[in-house]
Amino acid sequence: MDISLLSDRCKVKHLTEDSIPEVYALCCKNSLYYQYCPPFVTAESIASDMIALPPNKDFSDKHYLGYYDGEKLIAVMDLILGYPDPAMAFIGFFMTDVSVQNAGVGSGIIDGLCSYLKNLGFSAVRLGWVRGNPQAEHFWKKNRFIETGATYNTDHYTVVLAQRSLT
Ligand SMILES: CC(C)(COP(=O)(O)OP(=O)(O)OC[C@H]1O[C@@H](n2cnc3c(N)ncnc32)[C@H](O)[C@@H]1OP(=O)(O)O)[C@@H](O)C(=O)NCCC(=O)NCCS
Repeated sequence: MDISLLSDRCKVKHLTEDSIPEVYALCCKNSLYYQYCPPFVTAESIASDMIALPPNKDFSDKHYLGYYDGEKLIAVMDLILGYPDPAMAFIGFFMTDVSVQNAGVGSGIIDGLCSYLKNLGFSAVRLGWVRGNPQAEHFWKKNRFIETGATYNTDHYTVVLAQRSLT
């Protein structure tokens, strides 16, 4: 994957441990998200997310990405290619900086991702949101993600699975 083709507006970089302070600064302002999806973010939880993999996947398919407007980190995405099946991609996490929210930035990033993945031959993008989180549900439905009907429970919340077809 050529991550420079994911966005025509932002510079996209793979984030590493050096980026944890700026990722934390972006995440910690999104308090609504952590009300629904506890625990609250820490530097350690970001470090752990950066190396987390679903079953049977390796780091060649994992892209923990930062979207930059100039020098400013404005969005973070955890993307797994070829999961849950080879023709699909999975967004494990997506968050924009509060300073750019509600201006179409998040939707533009998702559109750029979907058109690039479609060009690569992927058939769908899948993700989950925490049931009841109004911001996440509104955003993903607005971006043409449709509930698959599957959910799963954690100790603290229920995750609703949804996907957007690229065909
Ligand atoms: C969801 C998120 C990525 C959207 O990013 P964004 O840059 O604001 O995206 P857009 O501007 O393209 O769209 C935002 C939409 O959410 C809506 N929205 C914002 N806050 C909302 C809320 N509390 N309840 C319902 N809808 C809300 C906006 O009205 C807008 O929809 P509209 O265009 O129909 O009015 C961003 O709010 C975020 O990072 N939230 C915290 C993390 C999160 O929830 N991530 C997704 C779940 S994995």
